[in-house]
Amino acid sequence: MTFPFTPPDHPRFAAHLEQAWATVLARLDATRLLVGERFPAETCANGHYPVRDNVEWTTGFWSGQLWLAYQRTGNPAYRALAERHVISFGQRIVQRIDTATHDLGFLYTLSCVAAWRVTGSPSARGIALLAAEALLERFSPQAGIIQAWGDLDDPAQRGRMIIDCNLNLPLLYWASQQTGDGRFATAARTHAEQAARYLVRPDASTFHTFYMDTESGAPRFGNTHQGYADDSCWARGQAWGILGFMLSWRYTGDSQHVALARRLADYFLPRLPEDGVCHWDLALLGTGALRDSSAAAIAVCGLLELAAALPPAEAGRYHDAACFIMQSLTVDYLSAPDEVGSGLLKHAVYHLADNKGVDECCSWGDYFYVEALTRLTQVWQPYW
Ligand code: GLY
Repeated sequence: MTFPFTPPDHPRFAAHLEQAWATVLARLDATRLLVGERFPAETCANGHYPVRDNVEWTTGFWSGQLWLAYQRTGNPAYRALAERHVISFGQRIVQRIDTATHDLGFLYTLSCVAAWRVTGSPSARGIALLAAEALLERFSPQAGIIQAWGDLDDPAQRGRMIIDCNLNLPLLYWASQQTGDGRFATAARTHAEQAARYLVRPDASTFHTFYMDTESGAPRFGNTHQGYADDSCWARGQAWGILGFMLSWRYTGDSQHVALARRLADYFLPRLPEDGVCHWDLALLGTGALRDSSAAAIAVCGLLELAAALPPAEAGRYHDAACFIMQSLTVDYLSAPDEVGSGLLKHAVYHLADNKGVDECCSWGDYFYVEALTRLTQVWQPYW
């Protein structure tokens, strides 16, 4: 299969990425002044991030950006603020504030595992392990999946897994590595296998969500929550799948995860518009639908992971596609340093049907843009 993406002109691309760092750091500094020790909300509203306490699924993306900025610059102010976040995440898990979610992986990997990786902090490690225990409570051994949302006794949510959860699995794999307790990794690996079996369709598109019977373990049905239709392919879900299966591969070494991520990428790439930045649902190619720049940034990280795992002769086109998308994001979607508003990456869609974060910056789009920038400009050990 060929993809219609040529690699960017490398000296110019490199210069764009260097300029992008200056923009990113200037805008992060403005957001730092705005939020203090609190957090940007999930998405901007009318171009600005409302300021929130440590609730919801996205606060770790702000911590993650601070750690990346610290690793880029060595500026102790980023580290000091991110270390305050570790205390906040400790309180959150001990008091179980808004923790009935699989998103503990997103939250604690980018706040506490990142803190431990960068500084060796034993308290950050301990807090991340508490979060891994809480995430493990959501694993149903009968269904072999981690329940995505809601209380475990909520009949509407019981047995429901979603493709996004692939990014929550690294916290579990990491916890097994740290403790020698195999329960975490077994749950993660089992969930990844069920996701591969049921969330991925035969043509390598993905369901957003899929229900399992938690008594018999039988598959029930797939549907969407944020996509265009139950049988369409929500762009961010496909991007979560590409990156997420690659992160499972990092821990398991199982080449089936690489093969699957590659099939997902082969579905994703031919369904992009000319500039390589996906519409919010891949079924909407050719319709003028809004873009989801956050899905594009996640896909860049996934494609770079995939390219690094493949033999050179097969890796090039995925690496080129990642650079092409990143060039578009940098030139046409990244906010200017002095642009009014907060946030980095414009034109994301959080949840169109709920009218949430439509054509706005969002905290995960910003985070994955900076992660992609880091991957392309530095030698970096992922926090995942
Ligand atoms: N994980 C939620 C989302 O991607 O919107």
